[in-house]
Amino acid sequence: MPNWSQILNEASTQAGQVDLLFFFLVTVSTAITVVIAGLIVYFCVKYRRRKENEIATQIPGSTRLEIAWTVTPLVLALGVFVWGARLYFNLESPPTNADDVYVVAKQWMWETQHTQGQREINALHVSVGQTVRLTMTSQDVIHSFYVPAFRIKQDVLPGRYTTIWFQATEPGTYHLFCAEYCGTGHSEMVGEVVAMSPQDYAEWQSTGSNANPEAAGAQLFTQYGCIGCHKADGSGRGPSLQGVFGHPVRLENGQTIVADENYIRNSILNPTSQVVAGYQPIMPSFQGQLNEDQLMLLLIYLKALGGTTSSAAPAPSVTP
Ligand code: CUA
Repeated sequence: MPNWSQILNEASTQAGQVDLLFFFLVTVSTAITVVIAGLIVYFCVKYRRRKENEIATQIPGSTRLEIAWTVTPLVLALGVFVWGARLYFNLESPPTNADDVYVVAKQWMWETQHTQGQREINALHVSVGQTVRLTMTSQDVIHSFYVPAFRIKQDVLPGRYTTIWFQATEPGTYHLFCAEYCGTGHSEMVGEVVAMSPQDYAEWQSTGSNANPEAAGAQLFTQYGCIGCHKADGSGRGPSLQGVFGHPVRLENGQTIVADENYIRNSILNPTSQVVAGYQPIMPSFQGQLNEDQLMLLLIYLKALGGTTSSAAPAPSVTP
């Protein structure tokens, strides 16, 4: 016999929590509607005018009643607010042990890139029990990554990275939808998320083309001349990028920020906007020279250099 989570098609660790809040809201709304509608009907009958010349009796207010029907909804509403906010913040802050997967949305398809090498179109294979963190961007217009069975939905925007995370709990194949109208082919911008057992997933990872995205990123780093200034030992005209990703960076304007995905992206496309303290704003913009896939590969490489992943490839040693 199927259990509740199967009937409701809950397939991630968060799905049950989202549903619980949803059903709580439905229950409370239904209860309030029934009580109010019921009282309206009851009072209509009980206090109807019985004689043509009947005069209404005035009833003075009751402070206790007023307080009760003010405080009860207030507590309920604030409770739902706190509950919802906690769920939301949980969805927005991925656990640190997550597997990174990169997503590029374009009219009208989904591209996914695993750090281990697999690359997919309109599909995403994951392992049950493994936390997956998606870093997503769009090549054209706004899309939205939506997996109903996981109860996750996140807008995918051009010009920046957004993230979402999940952990699949049940093996199976689940719908992936685009949930933001993005043009003629919007309704065809669908795919599937395949949740597999850890054994099947390991087997799947080891098959197919395993082009190493980190190595591809390192190659771009050399090809576009980044290596000429960003020397690993810090002797270049630009700062060394070893151990930068995920760590605080002091900027020329006195600000200290954490080098995240959007900082890296901005530094490549709009380099003079966030200059590192002690360096000149001499880096040219690579706007229009790198597409989203290449930016993603560079990001994977720089992330590995940052030391946040264990499989950091050694920096290519090229002397310009
Ligand atoms: Cu992409 Cu709708």
